[in-house]
Amino acid sequence: MTLQSSISSLVKQLASTQKVTVLSGAGISAESGIPTFRGKEGLWKKYRAQDLATLSSFMKDPKLVWEWYDWRRKIIASKEPNPGHKILAKWENYFPSFVLITQNVDGLHQKAGSQNVLELHGNIWKLRCTQEGTLFENHEVPLKELPPRCPQCGGLLRPHVVWFGESLPTTTLNKAFTESSRCEMMFSIGTSAVVQPAASLPLKAVESGAKVVEINPVSTPVTSYSEFSFRGNAGEILPQIDKKLPSEHL
Ligand code: OAD
Repeated sequence: MTLQSSISSLVKQLASTQKVTVLSGAGISAESGIPTFRGKEGLWKKYRAQDLATLSSFMKDPKLVWEWYDWRRKIIASKEPNPGHKILAKWENYFPSFVLITQNVDGLHQKAGSQNVLELHGNIWKLRCTQEGTLFENHEVPLKELPPRCPQCGGLLRPHVVWFGESLPTTTLNKAFTESSRCEMMFSIGTSAVVQPAASLPLKAVESGAKVVEINPVSTPVTSYSEFSFRGNAGEILPQIDKKLPSEHL
């Protein structure tokens, strides 16, 4: 099947699909210029996760960990959502039920206009007090003080992201599993699908009777059970799908 005929076949089904759930990963922001984690240019090729993305590394050297997050915040701050993010924001108002689950912490889905985003791994623009758990939204680039301190109690602030060895936020994760099991169509976009528990969401969907659509330049563990697997960039494939959808949902 050619790309165009696969897209047409998907669109035929999507036109009458009521419940769509999407799982996105770092790949959807790649075309905005934000580095992914794995792959040739991935962050985990240059940096060791155990030195920068664990609670023990933070407790040992909070300044070093914050320097890395401050650098990532600087990169992200200068980037804009790409057509992939924009189509997903548009689909929130197109499908009767549409849920966007992301592993990304960059906030680009929201910047594109998505309002209902389940953030599994937190958000780099939020800081959390290690003493009292208070959350602060903070868009300062670069941060004035490294490591930053809580304006209320003076405690150390940490990035509000999930580190290796930490649990995902329970309510968000439960919602993500519920939405994956009740959807008719699940998209897995720009994720290597190797980090648990997020990687289990498309599997949950297929086991619950949904069809899975993957968009990724390379194959992943999701490919084997996907009904449609598009080998390409999200910022190119999503607009092509969207262009073929009827202007009003049935
Ligand atoms: P990865 O870096 O593991 O995977 C990114 C995926 O995006 C790869 O499979 C790429 O092939 C694909 N990709 C690259 N460019 C793309 C494009 N233009 N369009 C579509 N796909 C593209 O990122 P994640 O799967 O998101 O966790 O990683 C999961 C988690 O691992 C992250 O949330 C992070 C990381 O460690 C934490 O920090 C807790």
